[in-house]
Amino acid sequence: MTAQDPKILENLATAIGQTHGITPATFIPEDAPFDEAQRHWLNGLLSGLHAIASASASGGPAAETGTALTILYGSQSGNSEVLSKALRKFAKTQGFDATVTALDDLQVSDLSAINHLLIVAATFGVGEPTDNAVKFYAALMDEAAPELPATLNFSVLGLGDSSYADFNQTARDIDRRLGELGATRAADAVFCDVDFEDDFAAWRDATFASTPFKSAAGAASAPEPTTAGPAFDKTHPFMATLIASDRLSGAASAKCVNHIELSLAGGGEDLDYAVGDALGVWPMNCPREVQQVLDATGLSGKETVTLKTGPAPLRAALLTRLDLQTVTPKTLEAWGVEKKADDDHIIDLLQAGPGLDAQALADGMRALQPRLYSISSSPKAHPGEVHLTVGEVRYAMHDSDRKGVASTYLGERLAVGGSLGVYVQKSAHFHIPEDDSVPLIMIGPGTGIAPFRAFLEEREARGADGRNWLFFGDQHEACDYLYREQIEGWIENGVLDKASLAWSRDTADKVYVQTLLKQDGKAVFEWLESGAAVYICGDASRMATDVDRTLREIIAEHGGKTDVEVAAYMDQLTATHRYQRDVY
Ligand SMILES: Cc1cc2nc3c(=O)[nH]c(=O)nc-3n(C[C@H](O)[C@H](O)[C@H](O)COP(=O)(O)OP(=O)(O)OC[C@H]3O[C@@H](n4cnc5c(N)ncnc54)[C@H](O)[C@@H]3O)c2cc1C
Ligand SMILES: Cc1cc2nc3c(=O)[nH]c(=O)nc-3n(C[C@H](O)[C@H](O)[C@H](O)COP(=O)(O)O)c2cc1C
Repeated sequence: MTAQDPKILENLATAIGQTHGITPATFIPEDAPFDEAQRHWLNGLLSGLHAIASASASGGPAAETGTALTILYGSQSGNSEVLSKALRKFAKTQGFDATVTALDDLQVSDLSAINHLLIVAATFGVGEPTDNAVKFYAALMDEAAPELPATLNFSVLGLGDSSYADFNQTARDIDRRLGELGATRAADAVFCDVDFEDDFAAWRDATFASTPFKSAAGAASAPEPTTAGPAFDKTHPFMATLIASDRLSGAASAKCVNHIELSLAGGGEDLDYAVGDALGVWPMNCPREVQQVLDATGLSGKETVTLKTGPAPLRAALLTRLDLQTVTPKTLEAWGVEKKADDDHIIDLLQAGPGLDAQALADGMRALQPRLYSISSSPKAHPGEVHLTVGEVRYAMHDSDRKGVASTYLGERLAVGGSLGVYVQKSAHFHIPEDDSVPLIMIGPGTGIAPFRAFLEEREARGADGRNWLFFGDQHEACDYLYREQIEGWIENGVLDKASLAWSRDTADKVYVQTLLKQDGKAVFEWLESGAAVYICGDASRMATDVDRTLREIIAEHGGKTDVEVAAYMDQLTATHRYQRDVY
């Protein structure tokens, strides 16, 4: 068999695809029945096959199709994935046939077979790679990473948030390391802040205009036809109506968690969502905070400022367009001030009286951004609606009460009947299996319950026969048991086979979800061995790490496995989509 025989290649790819659930445009997974050399050879073959197959489908010769391009993303909350898919469409108009996959779907050893590579990588945690980029990142940074050929032309786009100290650390590391290993940087990396749209477009245009890309481009295809009707996304949100906002946590709770119901009536198919997806919500700032900013600067609010979106009265801009809290390096530069404390907000800087006119004030603030919320309803149970479970962010700092923008907008400022801009953020990596018989272990304390309410509603609506085990908890059973009635109903009617509830402040010993997981470790391992998928949602800083460690301890203890075997077991769970996390 040779690479000149497209029919054999097409048949081979189809056969592999049918066996392993992949399309010819993806890579051979690690568990496919090939040794390393065979897998490497096949991956090289498949990267070119996509173009050959599409040419033979259209009857045209291979030379007239696009050049193969590999787009890899590292994405946690979906932005990099959305951009990568948009990039694939754009690449087609520039003469490239692109494949789009997560970074961890590719082995570093497979990079040398690629000629054109684009990486869109977000940074998560504290300067860390996203869950679907951890393995690729570790292998690339490893001392033993292979040298790369100069024929590998790459460019990197980073997604990050400039309020983090490790701004875009993952993309910076990947960009540096690819260069160190010998690959050719076709266009400089761009490291985006939260308002990434313009930087993305500039990076994309510069990359395709670079010599290594321009000189290799094949025949360009016309842009893919857009479907009729409005497509709602971050920049074109749908105006949803608030139909209910109810406090879930009791009056005695230290937290205020609200159940939010929004009507999607009139949105049509563009707002179809699946359980596991998130909803992007455009908030408005608190008018009292807007007034505080005006008072601190001595401005009236009637001044006109020019924003990226055009001119606007200052008060309106402060209410709906500008981030009144986050201090970024751009703030310090524009206002010529210094932060006194790490946790200073915009208002703390303004109280020092930097003497700003309206435009200078606006220039130092970044654009207000939408917030993401895990959807807590199944569309099967609530057609035309979407539900959220939102914890209000409130805390004291520098002797004043502070609050989060979106969580309090949803909880206290938006009245029932009012509307707000929303869009569905698809989450390809946090979904229940199509196979209803797969057992599910769902671990989601606090607002981490949100997607699992949706999963359970979905499974009930589908009449799924797979077992369901929920781990939930918070501080006190009496006032923090979110969705108590619904959960008790599921225990009673058998939708929930097991519910493990952890109340951290009801007993002398603190009990967390990971405590119960460990206590019931034998059963957890039995569920895993019977094919269960494990889902974690909620706090990324402590809970998700503790739960991950506990799962590893359970597999070691009850599976009698060494550290290396445990790591392989967890890797296998991840590779087969049986370990998924939605953490924030
Ligand atoms: C994929 C995803 C899904 C999510 N799902 C949910 C969900 O289902 N439910 C939910 O409630 N949230 C969820 N979130 C979080 C949500 O997006 C918001 O981040 C959260 O509601 C806070 O937004 P806000 O606008 O109210 O606060 P912001 O105005 O963004 O303020 C939050 C900021 O305030 C500061 N801050 C907060 N607490 C303190 C403190 N104690 N001390 C000092 N500073 C502090 C921190 O700088 C923090 O970043 C999710 C996030 C992601 C990425
Ligand atoms: C929990 C959390 C941690 C984050 N940590 C960082 C960080 O350390 N550095 C950074 O530059 N951005 C950080 N970000 C910002 C993300 O990189 C940014 O939101 C990005 O657009 C996410 O892209 P994604 O949707 O593709 O995952 C963090 C965001 C969240 C929610």
